[in-house]
Amino acid sequence: MATVLAIETSCDETAVAIVNNRQVCSSIIASQIPVHQQYGGVVPEVASRQHLETINGAIAQALQQAELDWDTIDGIAATCAPGLVGALLVGLTAAKTLAVVHNKPFLGVHHLEGHIYATYLSEPTLEAPFLSLLVSGGHTSLIYVKDCGVYETLGETRDDAAGEAFDKVARLLHLGYPGGPMIDRLAKEGNSQAFTLPEGKVSLPGGGYHRYDTSFSGLKTAVLRLVQQFEKNGQSLPTADVAASFQETIARSLTKRAIACAQDYGLSTIAIGGGVAANTALRQHLQRSAETHNLRVLFPPLKFCTDNAAMIGAAAADHLNRGHTSPLTTGVQSRLALTQVMELYRHEE
Ligand code: KG4
Ligand code: ZN
Repeated sequence: MATVLAIETSCDETAVAIVNNRQVCSSIIASQIPVHQQYGGVVPEVASRQHLETINGAIAQALQQAELDWDTIDGIAATCAPGLVGALLVGLTAAKTLAVVHNKPFLGVHHLEGHIYATYLSEPTLEAPFLSLLVSGGHTSLIYVKDCGVYETLGETRDDAAGEAFDKVARLLHLGYPGGPMIDRLAKEGNSQAFTLPEGKVSLPGGGYHRYDTSFSGLKTAVLRLVQQFEKNGQSLPTADVAASFQETIARSLTKRAIACAQDYGLSTIAIGGGVAANTALRQHLQRSAETHNLRVLFPPLKFCTDNAAMIGAAAADHLNRGHTSPLTTGVQSRLALTQVMELYRHEE
């Protein structure tokens, strides 16, 4: 029953949490969104500097909130891949330093494995196998969760991630950053059937379409063409209708693929993770379709869907319970396949 202090700094949240297996003892999230908002997106250099300024305070706060001291901590973890290299480096260096100073095991954690473990925080009795649909600003993946550290990626985006598509379309519609919540809000006032947009099918070499992969760059271009057409005709853009139609297309596309994947692999539970899991249309579509197909869908609370350190701690605790630890020579990696997770650990069983 490991208690782990975990750090997450892969993008624009400085997060520190203390987790006992699947139970959150404390969770601190210092969001940088207001800082990056003025640039219309995350600026990596600014993110790294913000992490540096915030990390020590967040660690102290996490210990204080949990009312724990270093003696009760069994291991120290940090996200080491994938993510922004400079940002990751801040959290990883802090975790390794703390591990040396307090003489505790260190664990490097794959960010996506963390997102998968987020589901366990609100569903502690859940056990693999299940299907994980990860939809965030950086990822859109369908993952067959087999066991701790054992994953098979069944589907993914060929280009833009779902959240990235939301953010880019929001920029096109001059709605600000981050785009997902803005589009979601505006879509409530619009007609989701106003425009027919491409749902992001991926062609197979022998004909037909990939059942699980998506490509959202064509959808983004279709919205751009729509905006340009209205401008050319001197008409004002029905922004709410565009937002609603775009959101509907993404929700339908993701739902179709997730349901097909779960059915094909005989998985009865679909767990959603990542910031886009907050999307109203996606939730409605998935819920409805899952009921029709007799599947269970789990939507963890949003605080566990978006980037946080509790999910990293839950993944680290499970690895530590199994005797997995990482060497202090572990570095950061901007990209790392989920199937390579076990390369981060040495086994001491
Ligand atoms: O998981 P997350 O916090 O960070 C990453 O790991 O990327 O996801 C952030 C993404 C952003 O692209 C944001 O626009 C999107 O999640 N997002 C949403 C909603 N809330 C956040 N997308 C659609 N609808 C929402 N309600
Ligand atoms: Zn994330």
